[in-house]
Amino acid sequence: MIPKTIKKLVVANWKMHGNLKQNAALLNDFVATLANLKHTQVVVCAPYPYLAQLQSALQHSDIAWGAQNLAKNEIGPYTGEVSAGMLRDFGATYVIVGHSERATAYCESDENIAQKFMVAKKHGITPILCVGETLIEREAGVMEMVVSKQLDAIINAYGAAVFANTVISYEPIWAIGTGLAATPEQAKSMHRFIRNKIAALNSEAANQLKILYGGSVNPQNALQLCIVENIDGGLIGRCSLNAQDFESICYAAEKAAA
Ligand code: 13P
Repeated sequence: MIPKTIKKLVVANWKMHGNLKQNAALLNDFVATLANLKHTQVVVCAPYPYLAQLQSALQHSDIAWGAQNLAKNEIGPYTGEVSAGMLRDFGATYVIVGHSERATAYCESDENIAQKFMVAKKHGITPILCVGETLIEREAGVMEMVVSKQLDAIINAYGAAVFANTVISYEPIWAIGTGLAATPEQAKSMHRFIRNKIAALNSEAANQLKILYGGSVNPQNALQLCIVENIDGGLIGRCSLNAQDFESICYAAEKAAA
């Protein structure tokens, strides 16, 4: 459950980066520098083996932590998978679901992603559902159709009410790791579309939903993006691996929330 006083959410997605030593340095810096945020929740999502490290470094701070994926099943003979219950054992309260880097490389279907979203919720972990279109889809003007279909996989299976107290991250694939972020206008239009789509089905869920933007967010563009209506924060890749950059983005979100 995201507290009502929290207006913005900034999530670090470390992807497959880091080691014990580098993580410790980053986490110590985050804890020391981000202690005064009042309206912004910071979350760090690291590779599974570092969850215990996140727990011990962050448990006495306001920074939350989570994973970048989870199994759609709860228990059983699924070699190499990690369940929601296991994430809970290490205090994880957020999990990224359906990131395009996984969906593409490991052929994750929208239906699998929907199941993961629900299993996270069932275990009290806030899912961060990633949606977004490719460059070809944007150039063809079908980006809303693409995102709509990704949302429909969840809506058709479980109803729109399940989006209450969850997070959707709009991550245009062409903006991820390219240095070419969506413009505030492009993001504004898609975020409005997402909010309206959920609101048309369940206005309460739409109000209780955070919609993040992800894709080449940096200290220079963070404020511009975070002040846009319906942008509730960011999902940060590359710049979350640099303490100063990440902290500037968190402070930009805090400024936008004030
Ligand atoms: P970059 O911030 O490196 O573009 O990555 C975005 C992303 O994929 C966050 O999940």
